[in-house]
Amino acid sequence: MANASRRPATATMALLLLLVLLELAAMTGLSQGQLQVGFYSESCPDAEDIVSSAVQDAAASDPTLLPALVRLQFHDCFVRGCDGSVLIAGAEVKNSKHQGLRGLDVVDAAKALLEEQCPGVVSCADVLALAARDAIGMTNGPSFDVPTGRRDGLASNVRDADVLPDASDNIQTLRSKFATAGLDDRDLVLLTAAHTIGTTACFFVKDRLYGASGSDPGIPAGYLAELKARCAPGDFNTRVPLDRGSEARFDGSILRNIQAGLVPIASDAALVADNATAALVGAYIGSPRFRRDFVGAMVKMGTIGVITGGNGEIRDVCSAFNTN
Ligand code: HEM
Repeated sequence: MANASRRPATATMALLLLLVLLELAAMTGLSQGQLQVGFYSESCPDAEDIVSSAVQDAAASDPTLLPALVRLQFHDCFVRGCDGSVLIAGAEVKNSKHQGLRGLDVVDAAKALLEEQCPGVVSCADVLALAARDAIGMTNGPSFDVPTGRRDGLASNVRDADVLPDASDNIQTLRSKFATAGLDDRDLVLLTAAHTIGTTACFFVKDRLYGASGSDPGIPAGYLAELKARCAPGDFNTRVPLDRGSEARFDGSILRNIQAGLVPIASDAALVADNATAALVGAYIGSPRFRRDFVGAMVKMGTIGVITGGNGEIRDVCSAFNTN
């Protein structure tokens, strides 16, 4: 009898203990800076829809803004972490590494709509992560959940962007710059495959075509002629597809082009100059795992150096720090 009555009490105690532990885990999670899917589901339930519509509106008038938004998130996350530092006008963004960056106004427009509905709630760093996710989906790429809860950073310095990779970087340099950001060879290959959409200015191709010692011998002859026809000597502004023949559509053809050397920028071609990265490129060609693993790498990139909890701020406008 005594035993029977103690059992429910023990079970209740165990349940209570479990609840306390779960609560503690959640609190620790927050203080450790973990993001969560649906972070704004109560504080601003329409946040993700508002961002999607802003991206859709922008793409309706200029579809090339979609790849620009994906690049923008990469440039945000690699410099000081995904903290919106790239969005501050006249600061970090002036570094030449950010040359050609576009889509900042799309983020500003989405943020302005969010401020009307839920002032002071949604960070610019999150708007950027959501916009990049939407851009991928809208170019036929995978749809995926983006953990949110980032706060905006309080600094943006022009020299901070020196850490970004260059189109002329060799595989060792690319690998070490990615490693500094906590990303491995697999992430490097998958994230570079974001070049399945978008274009590059001839500026980033010219040295491979008209270098001091001639053209890059790694470029197949037919493709070299094609690139030279697109990028005449001295033309820095004409744009060429990063994924030859498929620049508006997220697909695996970038991997085939990388393997065949049919890519305009040297950093993409460099992925096959190394056994480990070349093997990864080969393994993802035609594989259904490509889209799934790409999502994993994007989500991982989106966690670099995030600011959460009570740190940083929620900017009123994305292009300036709050004044109060
Ligand atoms: C591996 C190192 C990388 C290098 C050296 C690099 C370099 C470049 C360069 C030179 C351009 C052309 C910029 C222009 O002329 O406007 C470009 C465009 C682009 N990059 Fe990368 N990138 C790298 C990694 C990434 C990553 C990790 C992502 C995203 C996950 C990304 C997404 C894009 C996109 C979508 C474009 C097209 C932008 C547009 O069409 O406006 N890149 N990249």
